[in-house]
Amino acid sequence: MSLDIRRQVSLQRYNSLALDAKAEYFCRLTTIQEVQQAVAFADANKLAITVLGCGSNVVLKSELAGLIVLVQLAGISHRRAGNDIYVTVGAGEDWSSLVASSLGNSWFGLENLALIPGSMGAAPIQNIGAYGVELCDRFVSLEAIHRRTGEICSMDRLDCEFGYRDSIFKNRELNNYIIIEVCIKLSTKPINNWHYPELRSALEEKLGSLTASGVTPQLIADTVTEIRRAKLPDPALWPNAGSFFKNPLLDRTQLASLVVAEPQIPVYPVAGGLSKVPAAWLIERCGLRGHRVEQVGIHSKQALVLINYGGSSGRQLLALAEHMQRAVKEKFDIYLEIEPTIYGSF
Ligand code: EPU
Repeated sequence: MSLDIRRQVSLQRYNSLALDAKAEYFCRLTTIQEVQQAVAFADANKLAITVLGCGSNVVLKSELAGLIVLVQLAGISHRRAGNDIYVTVGAGEDWSSLVASSLGNSWFGLENLALIPGSMGAAPIQNIGAYGVELCDRFVSLEAIHRRTGEICSMDRLDCEFGYRDSIFKNRELNNYIIIEVCIKLSTKPINNWHYPELRSALEEKLGSLTASGVTPQLIADTVTEIRRAKLPDPALWPNAGSFFKNPLLDRTQLASLVVAEPQIPVYPVAGGLSKVPAAWLIERCGLRGHRVEQVGIHSKQALVLINYGGSSGRQLLALAEHMQRAVKEKFDIYLEIEPTIYGSF
């Protein structure tokens, strides 16, 4: 079967910010053979390839040149080794459904990552993370098709160079691979992780005091789901891409001067003597929480989330993001890095 490649397709339905960008060429990929055909088509026509999963972590400018592919490879299989369950997941599988079905099978380890929008194939690219767990904590390997050779390559955790909302696929290997499946390691024994402050206090509120027997994987998943629902707008109703900026990492000098200005700011020490501070706090202190310019705005319950209230363009959204970056730079001398990947041109 040959691929159904169409021209000048609106991508509005394919990105969670609902930005109305046009793809020069567009197709869906449901099998490895189709991925290889798409690579061959792009080569023959000298086109760049841009990969979209659920489009929940991208900002699209108005024109996307080349071939835009929607990766929809399905399938979940597993293998047991003692208490470990190795789950191999097609890149097009929905992440949130995977978390729910894993929990339903009593395969533990993904609870803290409940309700994150997006597909399996996108998860390693930004190393999704929430409430104290990152994908890389459960990641074993992935298979991807190389953009130029069309060959299938296997990559392990080290190969992927995971970092905070970061991997080799956002840097050196940007657009060089199409991820087709990911293998993660779960466990039949609960791996309860409740050290994230907001999760911990929500659990304490429910249970009175935290005991190892009281906290179950299901309770963690339910609590994370409730916290997310309370703060993060549902993209189906309020188009958004989750956190729009990374939380900045500060060295000791930067942190010392910030803490003088903001003694109450939460500080999360990380490796290398650096500390992470919440970008949402900085944005809020610039008076921008809930700020709106025409059809784009900053969420009133989470200052790190930008919303398209309808009909907005990538240009308007990025103009608001720049305004936020400038405000934070001027007030705190801290640069906020945009987290989603930006594609296309105006
Ligand atoms: N805060 C404010 N104002 C706000 C919101 C938060 O001052 O409007 C402060 C609060 O002090 C709060 C702190 O910021 O304690 C942290 O807020 P939150 O727990 O909501 O986390 P975040 O740093 O804003 C990060 C991730 C989220 C993830 C949560 C929970 C990044 C860029 N974002 O957000 O990930 O769900 O932690 O782990 O690291 C995403 O990547 O799209 C995403 C939603």
